[in-house]
This record gives sequence, C-alpha cells and structure tokens, in this order.
Amino acid sequence: MIVPTQTVRLGDRSYDVVFDALSGLGAALAERRRLGPCVIVTNDVVGPLYAEAAAASLRAAGFTPSTLTLPDGEANKTLAVWSGLVEALLARRVDRHTPIIALGGGVTGDVVGFAAASALRGLPLVQVPTTLLAMVDSSVGGKTGVNAKEGKNLIGAFYQPVLVYAAMDTLATLPDDELRCGLGEVVKHGVIDSEALLSGLERDGASLLARDPVATARAVAECVRVKAAIVSQDEREEGLRAILNLGHTLGHAVERCLGYGAIRHGEAVGIGIVAEARLAELRGEADGAFRARITTLLRALGLPVDCPSLSAAELVAATGMDKKRAYGTLRVAYPIECGRVRLDAVTPEELHEAALVISAREEDR
Ligand SMILES: NC(=O)c1ccc[n+]([C@@H]2O[C@H](COP(=O)([O-])OP(=O)(O)OC[C@H]3O[C@@H](n4cnc5c(N)ncnc54)[C@H](O)[C@@H]3O)[C@@H](O)[C@H]2O)c1
Ligand SMILES: [Zn+2]
Repeated sequence: MIVPTQTVRLGDRSYDVVFDALSGLGAALAERRRLGPCVIVTNDVVGPLYAEAAAASLRAAGFTPSTLTLPDGEANKTLAVWSGLVEALLARRVDRHTPIIALGGGVTGDVVGFAAASALRGLPLVQVPTTLLAMVDSSVGGKTGVNAKEGKNLIGAFYQPVLVYAAMDTLATLPDDELRCGLGEVVKHGVIDSEALLSGLERDGASLLARDPVATARAVAECVRVKAAIVSQDEREEGLRAILNLGHTLGHAVERCLGYGAIRHGEAVGIGIVAEARLAELRGEADGAFRARITTLLRALGLPVDCPSLSAAELVAATGMDKKRAYGTLRVAYPIECGRVRLDAVTPEELHEAALVISAREEDR
C-alpha cells in the first residue's frame, strides 16, 4: 500500500480503490473474491508490458488467469470490439463469479466494463487502470460504454466494479503527453473540492511531472476521494455528479473544433476550466483571482491555457450538440473558487463572452 485505500460508498455495491504496485494485484483480489478462474482483458500496447506480470501476481495468489487482448486506441472503442469481447468471454465459459480484469487506460476500462456489465447480465469487474487519466477518473464511478457514430460514449451502462486497483508503477512507461492529459483531470478534481490538491500541485507539480511514485499516488488518491464522494451521493448523474463535467463543456468544444487527436482530452479540459472560470466573473460571482491562479498552475504543469486559432463563435457552435443540454438550456459547471463549483443554465451569449478569454489573447482584445 503506497497510500491508504479509499472506498466508494454505494451500499452493498461499495468497493475499494487500492493504490499499489501491479505485483500486489493478486493478493488484493484474493482478499475480496473467491479463488478460481479470472480473465485479464488488455490491449496490444499495455498487454506486452504488463499482462504477464498481472497474470503472475494472480497465479501466485491462487487464481487461474487467462488473457484476452483488444486492439489499442479510441478508434476501437466500438460496438464491434465490445461484441467480439462478449463472445470471447462466453467462449471461455465464464460464469457469474469469474472476475473480469480490465488492464489498461480509460478506453480499455470503458469497453471491458461494458462487456462485464452485459455478459451473463453482469460479471464481477476489476478495474486496473494504467494511465493517470484512468486512475483519477474513468476507473472510478461505474460509467462504462463505447462510442457511436453520433458521438462519444453514447452506448453504455452504469456498472460499478468490485475493485479498482491503481497499478501505480505502470505509470513509469506512460508517454509524456498521456501523463499531461491526466494532469488536466487532476487539476479538475482539485478545483472541484480539494484545496490540498491544488496547493500541493502548485508547490510540488514538478514531482508529478517527474513521476515520483509517492507524490503521484497521493495526488491520485485525493482525486479519487473527490470523485468517490460525488459518485456516492449521485451515482447516475441526476444532479450533483454533473459537476464532474467541469471544464468539459468548452473542453469538448475545443476538441471538436481542433479535431480529435490534435489536442489531448485533458489539455482541452484545462482550457475549458479557464473559460468556465471566466463565466463566474461575468456573472459577478468571482473576481479574476481564481482564474489567474488556475492559469498559472496549468502553465506550470505544461498544459495549454487557450486555443488562439479558434474563434469564440466556433466554440459556442461546437457546444450545440452537447448531450449535457437538458430541456433546451445548456447547463454548465463553472468554478467560483476552489471547492465551489456551480451548475447552472447559461445562455449562448454568456458562453461566447466567456470563450473570448481562451479563443483570443486577452491583450489583443
Ligand atoms: N468512464 C468514465 O467515467 C470516463 C471518464 C473519463 C474518460 N473516459 C474515457 O477514457 C478514455 C481515455 O482514457 P485514457 O486517456 O486512459 O486513454 P487510453 O486508454 O487510450 O490510453 C492512452 C494510451 O496509453 C496507452 N497506455 C495505457 N497505459 C499505459 C502504460 N502504463 N504505459 C504505456 N502506455 C500505456 C494505451 O494503450 C493508449 O495507447 C476515453 O475514451 C474517455 O471517453 C471515461
Ligand atoms: Zn474528461
């Protein structure tokens, strides 16, 4: 145990989030599930690096693991890959007690989670996130699914894992831009509810960039604490959980306009937080100090704070398809200060005004 285990509290579906080295996976699972067969599902990038170590740990604890490998990448987060996986699991004669272990980043966790939710109407799911983003965000909270041609994550299920095992040592091989991507979501969790996390990043962001395992585990655990508290109160995003979309309304717009792949998701979220902090100022709920603080922090972490090649009008237009649009108004999460995020209906005009701070340099205005 590098840092203490956290628990997502959802009654009899509560589960632990453990932060430790991959070699401890088998023992952690053996404490919680009965021994027997289990299936590791990974992808063709993570598998060669870590599948054997995961299997060895499970075998040493008394499980009988087998491994399935999916093609890597967001482009493979599809119904076709999901259905192939479900068939492959059934062909291995899994039963209702066979743990399905998702070993990889958010893409793997989302597809495997949805397969575990649907094969035999539900198999025990173990998330073993190996990217910073998956550790702080996608592995916790039970959202699973795949993309549709109409948009990202439109097909899926809420399905909670029985265990999340954040394999901290796997971050050693994560490419730098994937690490940065995760940092955008780390900042998001800090803004939502953790002064300790924000000031820690301000003081010690360099040790995260240098992948110091203890500093990283502390930050990841603090993100999980924030997310777990929210998910425990609103599992199905009927209200509060929508604040986890902080940075995402305009962040997704930035991604859409620049083209997926041109900017990392987490980088776009950071830019989104900056613009959404401006919303609070426009509404007279904040002065510019918090936005300045976040801008400085993002820069120090090597994350972009604007997208000067885009216009505010393009960005607002790109939010038009937003699935967070409820009853004709666009509900946006915006930060007033650390620990105070408001969720409210926002007009296109306000959004346009806010987007000006990311779409054109302020000094040019
Ligand atoms: N379910 C949720 O609540 C939720 C929340 C946020 C994001 N998501 C989803 O998560 C996905 C993004 O996740 P991601 O950023 O982890 O992307 P990803 O899963 O594509 O991983 C990024 C890349 O890093 C590789 N990789 C993973 N771990 C590695 C390691 N330890 N060493 C070397 N390479 C490694 C992957 O194979 C991939 O090529 C998106 O599809 C997004 O929709 C879901
Ligand atoms: Zn995100």
